[in-house]
Amino acid sequence: MNLPSSVKVSEVVTRDGFQSEAQTIPTDQKVGLINKLSTTGLRRIEITSFVHPRFVPQLADAEEVYRRIERPTGVEFIALVPNLKGAERAVACGVKEINVVFSASEAHNRSNVRMSVAESLENVGKIVELAREYGIKVNGALATAFGCPFEGAVTVQQVMRLVKEYLAMGVASVSFADTTGMANPKQVYDLVSRILDRWPDQEFSLHFHNTRGTGLANVVAGLQAGITSYDASLGGLGGCPFAPGAMGNICTEDLVHMLHEMGIKTGIDLDKLIAVARYLQELLGRPLPGQVMKAGKVSDLHPLLPS
Ligand code: COA
Ligand code: ZN
Repeated sequence: MNLPSSVKVSEVVTRDGFQSEAQTIPTDQKVGLINKLSTTGLRRIEITSFVHPRFVPQLADAEEVYRRIERPTGVEFIALVPNLKGAERAVACGVKEINVVFSASEAHNRSNVRMSVAESLENVGKIVELAREYGIKVNGALATAFGCPFEGAVTVQQVMRLVKEYLAMGVASVSFADTTGMANPKQVYDLVSRILDRWPDQEFSLHFHNTRGTGLANVVAGLQAGITSYDASLGGLGGCPFAPGAMGNICTEDLVHMLHEMGIKTGIDLDKLIAVARYLQELLGRPLPGQVMKAGKVSDLHPLLPS
């Protein structure tokens, strides 16, 4: 297999994971969880979103979370910003790196940010300008890049056109999001190969949801095509409140476990990460989709059963 020697994992549990949690998670617990995560060797954590609190009440404490977390060196703390107002809040809060987002399909973009794709492009252009003024790094995420729950198929041409728009604005990287888990490995390999043929030196990343059980298979397809940066959510928590049937992201500890078993480095202490996943499960008081925290690692040996 054609595989990279190392992979960059970005943790999104306190943003993508928490945004559709019905029960309010106290700010203290969010801060505590992020502090635990930042001791596991994870180098990128998307901690919150500067979204309107009416739309995502769970993330109404974005400023407080951002201000209160510990910031060990070597860990980047990123915030999602859905519109210009969100970017202004991120600037006021002193955020150093933001992810902006719009969808490849009109219908999901309207449902998510109440704008047409053309309006979003204009909006994102303004955010990038504002960020540049304040020396903030910007990554562009393209939601529904592998299919839309309202419109169905999203064409490669559509995706290529929007990547071109993002790159013309000067974003640092572009992330392809499978918002509702519609992608399959062949589709991922084909799309990503086309993208990398066209922009071989550009940084790209992949954001998969495991809605239909294809999440880690899609990662393997992405690895083979040459992508070395992936988002994942602790315990497999996640979803999108603005897309029907959206489910958890691929699970961080399951992803890291698979990568390590394949000989791919992540810099993450898997035992520590599993411990934090079990802590999160207790915190939320229900079993989460993550599998390795239940089964243990492949390398954990068990005592022989008495005969
Ligand atoms: N934070 C706080 N307040 C915000 C805000 C933000 N990010 N964005 C808008 N507002 C406020 C405006 O200031 C305005 O306030 P006012 O009525 O006091 O003047 C009001 O909300 C309406 O603003 P408007 O720009 O008309 O928003 P909208 O109703 O068209 O909604 C979004 C647009 C983007 C705010 C909304 O669709 C949204 O937050 N969607 C959620 C997207 C998301 O997080 N998806 C999941 C991750 S992909
Ligand atoms: Zn997502």
